[in-house]
Amino acid sequence: MGKKVTLKYNEKEYNFDLLKGSEDENAIDVSKLRSDLNLITLDPGFKNTGSCKSAITFLDGEKGILRYRGYSIEDLAKNADFLEVAFLLIFGELPTKNQLNKLIADIQDNAIIDEDLKKILVSFPRSAHPMGILSSLTSALIAFNPEKKISLTKKTGDEHAYMYNLIVKLLAKIPILVAWVYRRRNGLSLDYGDYTQGYVENVTKMMFQRPNQKYIKNDVIVNAMNKLLILHADHEQNCSTSTVRIVGSSEASLFASVSAGISALWGRLHGGANQAVLEMLEAIKNDGGDTKKFMEKAKDKNDSFRLMGFGHRVYKNFDPRAKIIKVTAHEVLKDLGIKDPILNIAKSLEKEALNDPYFTSRKLYPNVDFYSGIIYKALNIPTEMFTVMFALGRVPGWIAHWREMRMNNDPIGRPRQVYTGSKKRDFLPLKNR
Ligand code: SDX
Repeated sequence: MGKKVTLKYNEKEYNFDLLKGSEDENAIDVSKLRSDLNLITLDPGFKNTGSCKSAITFLDGEKGILRYRGYSIEDLAKNADFLEVAFLLIFGELPTKNQLNKLIADIQDNAIIDEDLKKILVSFPRSAHPMGILSSLTSALIAFNPEKKISLTKKTGDEHAYMYNLIVKLLAKIPILVAWVYRRRNGLSLDYGDYTQGYVENVTKMMFQRPNQKYIKNDVIVNAMNKLLILHADHEQNCSTSTVRIVGSSEASLFASVSAGISALWGRLHGGANQAVLEMLEAIKNDGGDTKKFMEKAKDKNDSFRLMGFGHRVYKNFDPRAKIIKVTAHEVLKDLGIKDPILNIAKSLEKEALNDPYFTSRKLYPNVDFYSGIIYKALNIPTEMFTVMFALGRVPGWIAHWREMRMNNDPIGRPRQVYTGSKKRDFLPLKNR
């Protein structure tokens, strides 16, 4: 018999199951709270509320631990290829050589996009934010790849085969859409690339290939991109992944759910922070580099300015991804022979914040977005494309969670509320108002 938690209410005691996760986290199962006690919980931002059981990613905010299916982020960032990590997140195990070869071949078979989708792309003004275009094109993919209803609860072989094909389609088409969004901004041709060169290699080639120039592979760029995509691949129930799960819980298609996730990621408090960090660092540089002035602004409650790239809903210690990206930023700038004052401004901001009681008392540390923009900038990726690169990395995580939610047959997401509006009142005809 599992442990219980007792709630005393209206002079009566009620017992609720205490659930224990595989890393010994504890949760009170309140799924019968409303039916048994006619009570709900209130938790704005779900800071203390679990939405599901999941076996994909574990993170410990206090210890700064992040693991994908049990493998540490440090291990994967150092040793793995992004497509291996995508397979691991989605299907639960690192792929064998045959599984990986089959995946890349299946992705290559799907590496085409209906030419009519280009008409949607070019209908956007050139000034349109790339995240809005990517979200729209991802949703538009449904029109060219109609999906049938999948009821994985039967767990039949053909349902899994159909799900696999859907997943492969998205893994194949999203990088092409990302490259198209980037290239269209620069007035360049739109092609499909060749995944047999390697998944990440093809992403960099599709983005950076210039007409009439022989493409020369730059290992520094491909390795940096590979590491960044791995570091962004999943992060359990963050805002955009929760969005994908709740949209998918209505049995909306995978493409529609991921399109919604892209929109959620766009916000500057979430994935949009990597763009906001670079804009902040550029503003500090253009203002003369006085980091102390901006630190004071970040602490001033009357000032809406926040130190972008700092703080995290879960990490109350260093974001392990930020540690890896900080080292990678230094390596990439050195290998590419780039001296960027922005990196020094970032380092002095970090040093000051880590010694400032306002930040240390609130456990505000650099997060994944603080240094990533410095690398994207070194790779000549425009600031407005930074969050698109975050989305590209997060696609396998979104797919993994959508698949897990459907295979677990999770119920449609429908939170309750505490109503604070008017009590019952009668309609007042216009002439009497
Ligand atoms: C991502 O959830 C994930 O896993 C997300 C992510 C992923 O991989 O999916 O890790 C990616 O979104 C990283 C976060 C990127 N966002 C930013 O860098 C934006 C700047 N950070 C903040 O807006 C904030 O820290 C959040 C949104 C990240 C977290 O906000 P919370 O958990 O709701 O915390 P809070 O806003 O309640 O802040 C607690 C206190 C407040 O002060 P007090 O009311 O206690 O006086 O800390 C302060 C806040 O004002 N604070 C900051 C701050 N972040 C929090 N003050 C100045 N600068 C900041 N950055």
